[in-house]
Amino acid sequence: MKIAVFAGDGIGPEVTAQAVRVLEALNLDGMELTEGDVGGAAYYKHGHPLPEATLDIARASDAILFGAVGDFSCDHLERHLRPEQAILGLRAALGLFANLRPATCFPGLEHMSGLRPEIARSIDLLIVRELNGDVYFGEKGMRTLDDGRRQGWDMMAYAEDEVRRIAHVAFRAAQGRSKKLCSVDKANVLETSQLWRDVIIETSAEYPDVALEHMYVDNAAMQLVKAPGNFDVVVTGNLFGDILSDQASMCVGSIGLLASASLGERQTGYGTFGLYEPIHGSAPDIAGQGKANPMAMILSAAMMLRHSFGLEAEAARIEGAVAKALEDGVLGGDLGGTAGTQEVGDAVLARM
Ligand code: NAD
Ligand code: IPM
Ligand code: MN
Repeated sequence: MKIAVFAGDGIGPEVTAQAVRVLEALNLDGMELTEGDVGGAAYYKHGHPLPEATLDIARASDAILFGAVGDFSCDHLERHLRPEQAILGLRAALGLFANLRPATCFPGLEHMSGLRPEIARSIDLLIVRELNGDVYFGEKGMRTLDDGRRQGWDMMAYAEDEVRRIAHVAFRAAQGRSKKLCSVDKANVLETSQLWRDVIIETSAEYPDVALEHMYVDNAAMQLVKAPGNFDVVVTGNLFGDILSDQASMCVGSIGLLASASLGERQTGYGTFGLYEPIHGSAPDIAGQGKANPMAMILSAAMMLRHSFGLEAEAARIEGAVAKALEDGVLGGDLGGTAGTQEVGDAVLARM
């Protein structure tokens, strides 16, 4: 079980250390962790946010645990040298096109939601975000127009096969849950979205047992606050999925709680190859203070055990320990409490 560990920048190393403690506590036979440099940390050490040596470690592994990247001191660099290119580069190079971002309200945490407790309580949804296309990976540039004004531009596009493969992932996920799928787009304005909607509808013919609905992204953002319990599986493009998942995190209480799995087609001897990371970033405002909530990272490790290693019981054991810690009031600053990163890690370990 070869696991690449890319801790990255800011709170990345702090939360990753707790996830590693949790994994090591399981005493899994044959688990091998290999660290690699990514992000600003890799840029300052090697001159590149995603060095070739790191890619080699990624390719030789069965799964990747990824902390976070992002360092404001790199924001002036040419785009291809910025820390964020590490995660974008890994997603592209490894064909990780399907990003699963579950959001569930933990019992006892309803009062920490930005929503009223009775609304927060109903949240149990899965955002299936396309991760290899959209405006993220189109051509982009800066130019000067004839009249001298500067213009920045980014090309938004989806090819039908890119939509079809994420549609299949989402329909299958819906089959395994309550057989409801909501596709989120902006087809009233964007051609990219019209194609998205057309292909989702075509693909739905293969899943007659799944109830499909379509929603414009502006309405989806509103409904996520008004009646989040009406969503089960949500499938959407790269940009909309990025935004809606941060929003969903505050609906359940904190961005420090949301884990993710990024999957492609590659199978290993154990399961599906994948990259696992919290949905949050490097949080420079609290980095180095031992304050970050490591739960999203720990829950990402659980998703890794489930999807890449078929270790359902171990995944459930970690998730149960996190839920119990929350129920017992072990809350970080992001949840109105005082527990530090290490303390939260201790509490989860104790409950495992
Ligand atoms: P962020 O997610 O890093 O932080 C947003 C806010 O949430 C901050 O106030 C932060 O303190 C808080 N927060 C985030 N995670 C937390 C945790 N585990 N515990 C407690 N509080 C937490 O988003 P940002 O500030 O917009 O971005 C900071 C940097 O991170 C940028 O460089 C950005 O590009 C990068 N980023 C990276 C990833 C990634 O590596 N996948 C994801 C998002 C942002
Ligand atoms: C995320 C992040 C990334 C994204 C950035 C850091 C490139 O916000 O994983 O949600 O936009 O996908
Ligand atoms: Mn994001």
